[in-house]
Amino acid sequence: MEVIRTQVAIVGAGPAGLMLAHLLQRSGIDAVVLEARSRQYVEQRVRAGVLEHPTVQLLCDTGVGDRLQREGLQHRGICLRFDRVDHHLDFVALTGRSITVYGQQEVVKDLIAARLAAGGPILFDVGNVRLSGLDTDEPVIAFTGRDGVERVVRPAVVAGCDGFHGVCRPQVPGGYLQAFEREYPFAWLGILAKAAPVQAEVTYAYSDRGFALASMRSPEISRLYLQVGPDETLDAWPDGRIWEELNARLALDQGFALNEGPVLERSITAMRSFVVEPMRYGRLFLAGDAAHIVPPTGAKGMNLAVADVAVLAEALERYFATGATDLLDGYSERCLRRVWRAEHFSWWMTSMLHLTPGADAFERRLQLSQLRYVTSSEAAAISLAENYVGLPYGA
Ligand code: FAD
Ligand code: PHB
Repeated sequence: MEVIRTQVAIVGAGPAGLMLAHLLQRSGIDAVVLEARSRQYVEQRVRAGVLEHPTVQLLCDTGVGDRLQREGLQHRGICLRFDRVDHHLDFVALTGRSITVYGQQEVVKDLIAARLAAGGPILFDVGNVRLSGLDTDEPVIAFTGRDGVERVVRPAVVAGCDGFHGVCRPQVPGGYLQAFEREYPFAWLGILAKAAPVQAEVTYAYSDRGFALASMRSPEISRLYLQVGPDETLDAWPDGRIWEELNARLALDQGFALNEGPVLERSITAMRSFVVEPMRYGRLFLAGDAAHIVPPTGAKGMNLAVADVAVLAEALERYFATGATDLLDGYSERCLRRVWRAEHFSWWMTSMLHLTPGADAFERRLQLSQLRYVTSSEAAAISLAENYVGLPYGA
């Protein structure tokens, strides 16, 4: 049996796993990345789009920000659309910071290119990943390679970066992790369309018909979302109905019409809040969606994944350089402070903007009051803005 020895085995080549591999590479720490899907699949998977300020800074500071700076769309703020009127929040004026719209799959492409250029391995298309010995000094990961051959990785540390449905978190013995969870009575139907965005900023629309979000990926490509029922399927949403509903929910008193175009991708995503504590079991460190999920209304999921691995990389650098475990021991607590802030912010944005099935007039009035407050009080606007642009690491 072929045995691969390495310092860190990283399970999952999403933003968390790839960013961790990149940061470790820069510190001269050896790592192997195992990914269940193909390179093409992970590079095409359409998901998040908003990078908060600390994420952009980290990507640029560590040498993977060139294309992001060229092609990313830097935005001063966002727009909240309610009562059929636009209300702009200028984050630069409120916080001195901006956000950048740049597709998650572009970040993934840049990180894969950087890793391969540096000669670091990413094993795509692996199967049957099994972990053992996580509570010992010698964890083992067995897997089947793309060529069908069984292999074993023997690392000092395992990073579980394999997303919400991955294999790492379920390996932790029952009762060790405490899970905190909320499910929402709605989902998001998202489309990517070959159509020029009409609005200049990411626009969150609150309407009597439910929530809608108008975002973009480039001056030619729109990214649009609709709140739908949690059990709805794409069959019920032919293109005509999607465009009609988007236009109805995004309507303005002054008139509004989206540019329509071919739908390039579509999906329905359930909405959930989820956290496990602690984010560590023995030699296994969980990062990103493997440890926590937020509903996408606060645009925080990918940013949290990057923030986790920034903390983990620093702890691993210290461990491998000196043998000191203090930062590794503090990993979970340090990450969870940021995670819970993002959990609250994402839950709050979601509660403010969505139509809860069966909501009464009282709840609707509270939502509208909150929307008016964050768009009229500078104190309330700053609070939203500083969370949206991302609190500094260590805050
Ligand atoms: P993932 O991206 O899920 O990566 C995990 C990887 O592990 C995958 O490549 C998977 O194939 C692999 N894997 C799984 N199981 C195994 C296994 N057994 N063995 C090996 N590999 C395995 N976040 C934002 O910050 N901003 C946004 O604007 C935003 N919008 C979103 C919109 C939508 C519609 C959705 C669905 C999500 C959005 N998010 C957003 C969330 C963001 O996409 C996720 O939080 C992010 O992908 C988390 O990264 P990750 O690396 O932790 O996990
Ligand atoms: C996106 O552009 O995909 C996007 C923007 C804002 C969100 C979620 C997703 O809150």
